Amino acid sequence: MPNLLLNRLNPESIRKHFNCGDDDLDDFFYNDSKGHAKQLLTVTYALESEDETIAYFSVLNDNIRENDTTRNKFRKISKEIPRQKRYKSHPAVKIGRFAVSRDYQGKGHGTMLMDYIKGFFIKKNKTGCRFITVDAYKAAIKFYQKNGFDFLTTEDKDDNRRQMYFDLYPLSKVIGID
Ligand SMILES: CC(C)(COP(=O)(O)OP(=O)(O)OC[C@H]1O[C@@H](n2cnc3c(N)ncnc32)[C@H](O)[C@@H]1OP(=O)(O)O)[C@@H](O)C(=O)NCCC(=O)NCCS
Repeated sequence: MPNLLLNRLNPESIRKHFNCGDDDLDDFFYNDSKGHAKQLLTVTYALESEDETIAYFSVLNDNIRENDTTRNKFRKISKEIPRQKRYKSHPAVKIGRFAVSRDYQGKGHGTMLMDYIKGFFIKKNKTGCRFITVDAYKAAIKFYQKNGFDFLTTEDKDDNRRQMYFDLYPLSKVIGID
């Protein structure tokens, strides 16, 4: 495996060769991620070797509100937070895009990157962030489940994408928050 670096891409950063097999995700990486960065809408990070992109993800601020979930689920999520610290919404980071290059899929890179994202938003974080959210492609749901994500609602069970979340708190007790 070549030496890999995870780089934060600014609008001008060169996007090294990438093909995950999904045209929308590839197009976002090469094109839209630039304008999104300029407009402060998402930040894109790329896992790169010297000459190609192995994987990328884009993240943005989010929150989980009662309306996003079934009532029972919001109660379940909120129950994990001490009563006096519960608000009407809970701070989160959304994974807007997440993709591994075709040649590298199924080799653990997605899981490694997901572990990194979890730590990234627990340790030395600049804002409060309790959850990770994602609108998961149907084909990727198993991947997110294997990485500890759960569904936010059953309302979208027949849709092409499903809203999922991961609670960072239990992991923060293991790895610390600095
Ligand atoms: C989904 C994706 C990000 C997963 O990354 P990856 O590096 O291939 O995944 P990993 O190798 O870390 O796999 C971790 C586990 O998830 C499972 N998994 C990964 N992708 C899966 C898929 N599409 N369907 C079913 N299971 C999948 C793997 O089998 C593996 O399970 P195992 O540990 O029991 O073997 C990657 O395959 C990808 O970019 N796919 C195309 C784009 C996409 O769908 N992005 C998600 C947008 S929401």
